[in-house]
Amino acid sequence: MLENRCRHRGATVCEHHKGNARGFTCPYYNSWTYGLDGALRALPYGDGYEGIVDKTQLPLKSLRVGIYHGLIFASFDQSIKPLEDFLGGAKPWIDLFMKQGAGFPVKANGEHKLKGNLKIQLENTTDLYHFPVVHKSWMKMIDDETAAAITSFMTSDKAFCRSLGNGHSLAVLVPEIVDLDEDNGAPIPTRYEVLAESLAADYPPDQVRRIVRSLMGIGFNLNLFPNLALSMAFFRVLRPISVEETERHVALGMDGGTRGSQPRTLARAAAEFRLLAVRHGRRVHGPHRVAFHDVE
Ligand code: FES
Ligand SMILES: [Fe+2]
Repeated sequence: MLENRCRHRGATVCEHHKGNARGFTCPYYNSWTYGLDGALRALPYGDGYEGIVDKTQLPLKSLRVGIYHGLIFASFDQSIKPLEDFLGGAKPWIDLFMKQGAGFPVKANGEHKLKGNLKIQLENTTDLYHFPVVHKSWMKMIDDETAAAITSFMTSDKAFCRSLGNGHSLAVLVPEIVDLDEDNGAPIPTRYEVLAESLAADYPPDQVRRIVRSLMGIGFNLNLFPNLALSMAFFRVLRPISVEETERHVALGMDGGTRGSQPRTLARAAAEFRLLAVRHGRRVHGPHRVAFHDVE
């Protein structure tokens, strides 16, 4: 991961969020050119700097990078402690979060900006008190059973909220589903029966049960300091733009779902389920859709 700053006078060398390139040419003098590895390849009138400028000493600066469960973290601080030490007590919860895909990799869909301060988003991720009040209109859109399960933390003595150290925090809302690999053998809820029948055409019974369990999300919300929020229904990388504007990526999806000759993708099965749910006047919660988030 490279710092997006030309080594000449600090202009941004890449102004696109995504895409492909063979290298980077600084747009300021349209000339200092870098390779994808950050090496300085050329500068104008380079002959005049012979013996003065050593190109090997002026690559784009690299950030310190660590990867955990496919999540890529970067820091400007080269001497920062190892990523796994920093994540510390949050690691087991990231492991559990990554099971939201019910066996398929979790992917993030979509991104948008919002008018609001970054801290509101982060604080509310592990503030359970606000949920039934701030999300009142959203609660009216989901079926009663799901609404009761999602707000059970208000009276449950097993739900909790706590610090995980290093600024990370955790709120366990529905303790029964924090590990989607654990099948308690409970019957499939009536509201998911149609989906389960549909999925049974393409998936073995244990996979069907696992997918159905994943529809509620994973029963907890997790904040990773300073700007990552993982929850039952969203994955947010929060980037402050100004005091009152934040860019965030929202939504979870299952990546893939087709295997070999299977004719239907999981995404299609989920889409069909959503249609059925809408037809029956219901909404679902979990990794197949973007959750409405009321006034937040
Ligand atoms: S700032 Fe990049 S070439 Fe001058
Ligand atoms: Fe909220």
